[in-house]
Formats: sequence, structure tokens, C-alpha cells
Amino acid sequence: MCYQCQSPSRRSFTRFLAAGAGLTVLSACTPEAPTAGPASSAASSASPSPAAVTASAGPTAEAATVGQSPEVPSPTPSPSAALARQFSLDDPASQWVIVNKHRPLNPVDFVPADLVRPAVDISAAGEAALLNSTTAAAAEAMFAAAAQEGVTMVLASGYRSYSTQVTTYNGYVAARGQADADTASARPGHSEHQTGWAFDIADGGGACSFQPCFADQPAASWAKANGHRFGFVVRYPWMLHPVTGYYYEPWHLRYVGVEAATDMANRAIGTLEEYFGLEAAPAYL
Ligand code: DAL
Ligand code: ZN
Repeated sequence: MCYQCQSPSRRSFTRFLAAGAGLTVLSACTPEAPTAGPASSAASSASPSPAAVTASAGPTAEAATVGQSPEVPSPTPSPSAALARQFSLDDPASQWVIVNKHRPLNPVDFVPADLVRPAVDISAAGEAALLNSTTAAAAEAMFAAAAQEGVTMVLASGYRSYSTQVTTYNGYVAARGQADADTASARPGHSEHQTGWAFDIADGGGACSFQPCFADQPAASWAKANGHRFGFVVRYPWMLHPVTGYYYEPWHLRYVGVEAATDMANRAIGTLEEYFGLEAAPAYL
């Protein structure tokens, strides 16, 4: 699939990238393996580099508004009352914890108690090869199901400690400035990666890793269509940055459980903020 085959909004966005954002579709879609993080620590080596995501982050929020006029969806509590709130939205050990620019982890230096290395193909090193045990088991099932359908999926970046996120975020700021960094990288204590419930995927060859064209790779297409069957949602969907605070990350999957993920898919609810009736979090308070 190519961008020309996408919906009008995707085509418009591609034209915008090519014309006005100082980025080219060609460079944005040049296959590039995940690169080392901005610092030399082993932990940071598993984080996408600011340079790689610079090409993927899309236009500035202002420019995107001009080019796309995205409507900000109003918070819409699910008619299912978000499955009656079976789990905490505040506890980082809860599969429904909501972490965003308005909701830092509490405690801010939270470390999952049950980090494990899933039995999947992994391109990440050190702590980034880890997930919490529930997410790891679900990832194993999902990667195996994808493989059975001929789709190769690789774990490109999993758990990140608070200290790794300090390094990662500072690298983005140094490379792009704080405002732009904030559209792609969470500030320390505000990243889902620190919970162990989220991870980034790549495909077998690293095509378009952490780039917008990853959305058209089989691994991303498959995950978007099937992830809910294993409990995953694409946490930062296309054009919903006014809600999530981040541009489209087709590689970033978040475990919320099969019931909630399937309910979201069935109701076509794109973000956890909308699903659980929380306020949009486009910027830090
Ligand atoms: N890229 C996502 C927003 C993170 O840094 O957690
Ligand atoms: Zn991620």
C-alpha cells in the first residue's frame, strides 16, 4: 500500500509533509533501522533517536491545524461506562492506567515489579527488551498470530526507566527544541514506556522504523487491525494529537486487555482519554 492509496486526509497530509514541513516523503519513508538513542548509555540504545523521529513527527501542531483542520473530538464516555471501571486509571501497575501530559506516573519513578523478556523477536537492547509480565504474554500471543499470517513483527522498544526517559527526552530537546520534542517524546515521568504496558514495534527488516511510512508496513497494518484481539490499542492514532498530545505513532502499542481494546475497536473510539471520559491532554499543564 502506498500513500496515494490512502484516504484523502492521508494524501493531504503527505502532500503537506512534502510541501511545507521541511521534510520530504522520500526521506521520511527511507527505510531506516532503529538507531541508537541520544546518549551512550546501554539503556538509551533502545529508544528511537530524535533524528529518526524528526522525520516522522509530522508538522507542527499549528501547521497541522492549518493543513488539516482536525476537529478535536470531545471526550465521549463509552456507553459501556468504560466497562464499569474494572481497573484503576491512576495506579501505574493497573492495565488501565492513563499516562499523558496531564497525568504523570505516580510515583514518578515507578518501576514495574514483574519485568520480563518476552519470547519474541527483539531488536532492542537492555531494559528496552523488557515488558511487564501481562504485556509480555499478550505480545507473545500477538507476534505468534502475526507470524502465522506471514507478518513479521519485532519488539523495537519496550520498558524505559525514568532515568532512560530523562536521557531520551533531553536528546530530543537538544536535537529539535523543546516544543517539537514534546510532540514526539514524553517528558520523564510521563511516558507509558515506564509502566511496562507499552512497546514499539518494527517489522523484520526495519523498514520505515519510527517513520510515518511505517503505517503502511505489514506489521503496522496487522497490529492496527488485529491488536485488539490480544488486548492492544494503537495509543497515538492518526490526527488525534489534539487529544493525546503526540503525533501518529503507528508503532506504539499499549496493552489494556482484550475486553477494553475490543470494546474500543467496536465503538471506533480512538483514544484512551475518550474511552475513559478523561480530558484531552494536548500539552503539559
Ligand atoms: N513517544 C512516546 C510518546 C513516549 O515517549 O512515551
Ligand atoms: Zn512508544
